[in-house]
Amino acid sequence: MHFKKLTGILILLISICNCNEEPKPIPQAQIIPAPQTIEVLEKSFTLTSNIQPAYDTNLEALVDYCVSFLKNGFKNKSKPSGDETIIQFVIENNLDEEEYKLRIDEKLIVINAGSEKGVFYAFQTLRQLLPPEFENGDYDDNKVVLPCVDIRDKPKFEYRGMHLDVGRHMYSVEFIKKYIDAMAMLKMNTFHWHLTEDQGWRIEIKKYPKLQEIAAYRDETLVGHYSDQPHQFDGKKYGGYYTQEEIKDIVAYAEERFVTIIPEIEMPGHSQAAIAAYPELGCTGEQVKVAKKWGVFEEVYCPSETTFKFLEDVIDEVVALFPSKYIHIGGDEAPKTRWKNCSDCQDLIKEKGLKDEHGLQSYFIARMEKYINSKGKQIIGWDEILEGGLAPNATVMSWRGTNGAIEAAKAGHDVILTPTSHCYFDYYQSENDDEPLAIGGFLPLEKVYSFNPIPEELSDEESQYVLGAQGNIWTEYMPTEDQVEYMAFPRMLAMSEVLWTNSETRNYDEFVKRVEAFYKRLDALDINYANHLYEIEGNVSTVNGKTFYNLKTFSEGKTIRYTTDGSEPNANSAIYNSPIPISEDVTIKASVFNEQQQLGKHFMQNIKYHKAVGAKISINKEPHKAYLGSGAEGLINGISGSDKRYGDKEWLGFWGEDIEIKIDLEKATEISSIKTRFHNGNGQWIYAPKHIRLKYILDDGSLFTDDHSLKISDERIVDFESKMMKVPGRKFLIKSITVMAPNYGTIPEGKQGAGNKAWTFIDEIIVN
Ligand code: ACM
Ligand code: ZN
Repeated sequence: MHFKKLTGILILLISICNCNEEPKPIPQAQIIPAPQTIEVLEKSFTLTSNIQPAYDTNLEALVDYCVSFLKNGFKNKSKPSGDETIIQFVIENNLDEEEYKLRIDEKLIVINAGSEKGVFYAFQTLRQLLPPEFENGDYDDNKVVLPCVDIRDKPKFEYRGMHLDVGRHMYSVEFIKKYIDAMAMLKMNTFHWHLTEDQGWRIEIKKYPKLQEIAAYRDETLVGHYSDQPHQFDGKKYGGYYTQEEIKDIVAYAEERFVTIIPEIEMPGHSQAAIAAYPELGCTGEQVKVAKKWGVFEEVYCPSETTFKFLEDVIDEVVALFPSKYIHIGGDEAPKTRWKNCSDCQDLIKEKGLKDEHGLQSYFIARMEKYINSKGKQIIGWDEILEGGLAPNATVMSWRGTNGAIEAAKAGHDVILTPTSHCYFDYYQSENDDEPLAIGGFLPLEKVYSFNPIPEELSDEESQYVLGAQGNIWTEYMPTEDQVEYMAFPRMLAMSEVLWTNSETRNYDEFVKRVEAFYKRLDALDINYANHLYEIEGNVSTVNGKTFYNLKTFSEGKTIRYTTDGSEPNANSAIYNSPIPISEDVTIKASVFNEQQQLGKHFMQNIKYHKAVGAKISINKEPHKAYLGSGAEGLINGISGSDKRYGDKEWLGFWGEDIEIKIDLEKATEISSIKTRFHNGNGQWIYAPKHIRLKYILDDGSLFTDDHSLKISDERIVDFESKMMKVPGRKFLIKSITVMAPNYGTIPEGKQGAGNKAWTFIDEIIVN
C-alpha cells in the first residue's frame, strides 16, 4: 500500500508498537560519516519486518529498495512479524538536494529530504542505526528496538569520490558493484573509474577491436616491488576488459545508489596499451608491447589527425555509456621525449605557434576538451593539464600536492583534491613489517582523517571552486579484490567523513570508536578491512634533556602492557601509564590487552641510545610536507627507519634541495663515528646524494671539514659511515656536527621521472 498524499492519512496509520520496552544497547552514534546534528531522545521505537511505507508515487523504486533492505535483514523471511512499522518518506522542497531529516519517533519513522538523494542518505543513516546482522539477513529476532532520534544532515562537499584503477589489475563486475555499494553506504557520490593504462585497456570500444584483442592483455607481470632489482616476471598472460553491456549494468547499478561514474580515458600519456594495438597512434609508428611493469612510459599519443580521430571515436562510445557530466581525460605523467624527436610534433608546434612540448600537451587537451564539450560534457584532468596553459572549461584534479588546486582555483576553475599526502590509499597504512607489499609512502587512518580539502592558501571566494576530494586506489600492488578492500578500508570511512561532516564536528578519537564498532558491519558485508586499531604507536620525547618513550593506542578502554627485557608481553607484564625513561639501548615490546586477552599484534621498537639522542638539531630546509617523518628531532631519536619504506615516521624527504643538518651536542663530546642512510628508490625518483660533507666545531671553537663521495648504486638503501681519525695523544671534543647532503640533481634520461629534480630521503644520524 502506498499513499500519494501524505498529509492527514498518516495520522490514521500510526502503528501500535510496544514502546514500553527498554531499548537494547544498540549503539546510536556509530554512523559514518557522522551526521551534522543528532539528538538522541529518551524514548524508543520498535521496528518489525511488517513494514508499511507511506510515500509519493515517484519514490516507489527507492522505497522498494529501502523496504527490501529492512525486510531482508530479518532472518525469518517467511512472513512479516510483529506490529506494523510505519515509515514515511516526504520530499520537502526547501531542503537542499542531498539534505535530509530523519526522525525516529515512538510511533513512526519520518524521512524528509530535498530529493531522492536525500531520501537515500537518510536511509543509509537509518541502516547504520540497525544491528550489523541486518547487512546479511542474519538478524535473528522478530523486532529491533531503536532509540528515538532526531537527525538533521547534509554534506559539506558536493564531490565525494573514490577512484579505482582497473588498468594495472582488473576486478569482477560483482566486485565493482560491491565497491559502489560500500561508497553509497558512506554517502559518497562519485566513482572515478580509471579504465585505460599502459598495462591494459579495459573498456570495450566496438569501433577498435584490437583494443579488446591486443590492448586488454599483457604478456606477463612484474613480480615483487619495482625497486627490487633485477626485475622478475611471472610469465603469465594477464588481462581482460569490461564489455559495454557490463558497463551499462554497472552504470545503472550505481545510478540506483546515487553514485555517478566518471570514466577516465588517459591521454596523451599512460597509453602504451592502445599504441600496442594501433602503433600509428604513437610518434614512431613502431610496434610496442602492452607494458608489463609499472611506472611512466615514453610511448604517448602523437597529436596527429589519426590520433584525434581515434580518441574522438572512443569518446563517442564513452559518452553513450556514461551519463556523467564529466569525462576524465587523464593528462598526467606524459613524458615529452617522443614529441621532441618527432618531426610531425615539431611541425605542429611551429604551425600552431606553441612555445614547446608543454604547449603541445596543452593544445592536445584543449582540442579534446572542445570535442568533449561539443558532446555536452566537461573534462577533468590531473594537475599536469595546467602545464602550458589550462583548457578553458577544465576541472583540475590536484594530486602532486595542492599547488595545482590552488593555481586552478585562483584562475576560476573547479578543482578536486587528491593529494598523495592524504588521498593515496595505495600507500602503506601501518609501519608493521608484515603489511602486504605496497607501492611505498605512509598514509595511516589518522592522516586521512586530518585532511582538509580546502587549501589554506585560498580565500573564501576561491574555495568555492573546491568541489571536494577523493581517495585514489592505484592497483599495481593489488592483484586481488581482497587486497583492494584491505587498502580501501577503513581509510574510505575516514575520507567519507572528511567530505561529508563539518570540520567542527569531527574528532579523531571519537571517530575511531565508531570505526571499531563499524568493523562488525564490514564483517557482515564480507569486506576485508585492515585493522590497525589495536596497534600501538610509539614516539620519543625529550623533556629537560631527558629522553622518554611514549606508547599510545586508539582503541578505548584497553590496556597497554610492555616489557623492556626483550620478552613478549603477556597479561602479567607492566601496564603502561606514563612515558618510559630511556638512558641506554633498549628494546620495547608492547601489546594491547582487553582484560587477559591480547588484541592485535605485538609492537616492537629497538632504541639505539647513541650520543646525539636528545641533542638540539636544525635543518636549513623544511622537509617536504608529505614526508615530514617525526620532524628534525626524528633524525636523532635513537630509531632507524624501515629498510623498505621511506614514507614512515623516521625518514625525512626533501625534494630537489641541498640539505644541511646541524646537531648541537649537549656538551663537547668525543665521538668515533657518524652513520646514516639514504633511500635510493630510483623508481620513485629518490636518489642518494653523490657527496657528503661533514663539518665539525670543536670545544676550542676550531672547525674542520671532512668530504666523502658516495658510490652510485642500484641498491634501495645507501649506507654512509664516517669514522673519526685517531691522532695519538689528542682527544677531539666535538660541540656540533653539520651534515651537508647536496641533492643528487636532475634525474637522468632513461630513468623514471627523467628531467625532474630528484628526492633526497635521509634516516637516523647515529653518532657513536
Ligand atoms: C597519478 O597518480 N599519476 C595521477
Ligand atoms: Zn609525434
